[in-house]
Amino acid sequence: MMPSQESILLHTEAYVKEELAGEPSGHDWWHIHRVRQTALAIAEAERADAFICEMSALLHDLADEKLNDSKEAGMEKVHEWLCSQDVDPESRKHIEMIISTMSYAGGNGPAMETIEGKVVQDADRLDAIGAIGIARAFAYGGAKGHILHDPDSSPREITTAEEYRTKPATAINHFYEKLFKLKDLMNTSFGRKIAERRTERMHVFLEAFYAEWEGRQ
Ligand code: ADP
Ligand code: NI
Repeated sequence: MMPSQESILLHTEAYVKEELAGEPSGHDWWHIHRVRQTALAIAEAERADAFICEMSALLHDLADEKLNDSKEAGMEKVHEWLCSQDVDPESRKHIEMIISTMSYAGGNGPAMETIEGKVVQDADRLDAIGAIGIARAFAYGGAKGHILHDPDSSPREITTAEEYRTKPATAINHFYEKLFKLKDLMNTSFGRKIAERRTERMHVFLEAFYAEWEGRQ
């Protein structure tokens, strides 16, 4: 008998929870939980396949190069997991394709090919903006030992994965180097609508931040 999608999802959730527990740079289990939730909401609006979206959301950060020796080693882990769960080969290949191509990497990667890929990429990007995105930017900066803000350092134009990963940025510069750009990179109209609302929240936050920084009480 083929394992049911429901039981595959339950096993996968338990596996990912264990693998990512306590991950300090913003990829802990609750990031995965939020991406899954958002992916399912967008999938419904866009009539995308819920199982493919949910599985890809659950597994998307397991292959991250930050958590593995290499991207290939990470993808091998995903591949082995999907095989161990008897996911049918067509779905397995689709999920692997989504996970291997969805990462931000400076924002210049090729467009996602399938609607399910577009949905999951939007959901992951939405978790980097808005109130949660603000919190994650400062948590990331803290984990890397960066300072909050340096008025003497201005945001840079970052276009390659290499620059994105290796150049240290203050959390405030990160808003300009990436977070404000995400709205225009949304794939789906539902995702774009959420992105607009969340981007507005970041503008409100930064206005207050600069006001206090400059002594305007
Ligand atoms: P993902 O792989 O989930 O798309 P990243 O690994 O690039 O995201 O980053 C994890 C979180 O940390 C995101 O919310 C991202 O915006 C934030 N982040 C990444 N780089 C920086 C940075 N230099 N300063 C502050 N926050 C960052
Ligand atoms: Ni993610």
